Amino acid sequence: MEAQDTAIEFEDVVAGYGELTILDRLNLRAARGKITLLIGPNGAGKSTVLKALFGLARVRHGRIRLHGEDITGAGARELLARHGIAFVPQGRNLFGQLSVYENLELGGITLGMKTARERIPQVLELFPRVRERLHSAAASLSGGEQKQLEIGRALLLRPRVLLIDEPSIGLSPLVVQDVFRLLRKLADEQGVTVLMVEQNVKSALKTADDAIALEAGRLVLHKPAGELLADPDIERLFLGGGHVPSALA
Ligand SMILES: Nc1ncnc2c1ncn2[C@@H]1O[C@H](COP(=O)(O)OP(=O)(O)OP(=O)(O)O)[C@@H](O)[C@H]1O
Ligand SMILES: [Mg+2]
Repeated sequence: MEAQDTAIEFEDVVAGYGELTILDRLNLRAARGKITLLIGPNGAGKSTVLKALFGLARVRHGRIRLHGEDITGAGARELLARHGIAFVPQGRNLFGQLSVYENLELGGITLGMKTARERIPQVLELFPRVRERLHSAAASLSGGEQKQLEIGRALLLRPRVLLIDEPSIGLSPLVVQDVFRLLRKLADEQGVTVLMVEQNVKSALKTADDAIALEAGRLVLHKPAGELLADPDIERLFLGGGHVPSALA
């Protein structure tokens, strides 16, 4: 990958929580304006990659670069405001008692209320089902609608890089397809770089451009998603326990 095509680069990154090392001299790259899928067994460090990028896991060694600029150790606020990185974490992350609209307003708080309110209708165009529930409590939305709202809230900031952790959890297959289609559209039409963690490997590979597999905090495979999808061993490799043998790297 040429330097100018690289959005995200981890160089020899050692990161974890307190004294605990999770990422163990990890090297990886994610291409600009593409969808890169992170896969691997539970506990491999997939979420930690996103957290290290977003300043939520401590990087003890190595460098993280965004578009060539060193962002190692930067805090979430700076990463969001200055570097255009948005993070949609695993699980539910809304203010359940507040309305859909209020959740969006809060998501855009760093923009100033005027800009946030101008952008809310544009974001809602992407999510008609959420728009219909604008004044309902966020907790009353279905799981899929809540995930769409979380993504919408991140998009208000017009990120250049979207980090998204297991968006498909708890969603029906059709809603998962909607979410994946949206990510594809963001990459293709707006040049957003997407780094996505997904256990729903087969369907995610159909959406992604590249796939990276981690095992025990190290990269064991990086190849075009289509190539991995065509691998006759994919079922055995990823659908039975999710173990990726190092031989595939
Ligand atoms: N805040 C934390 N403090 C201490 N240990 C943590 C913390 N967060 C994660 N870990 C540990 O770090 C390791 C890697 O976790 P991580 O969440 O990155 O894995 P993952 O690949 O995303 O797994 P999963 O597929 O289950 O989401 C795990 O052993 C986990 O228990
Ligand atoms: Mg995880």
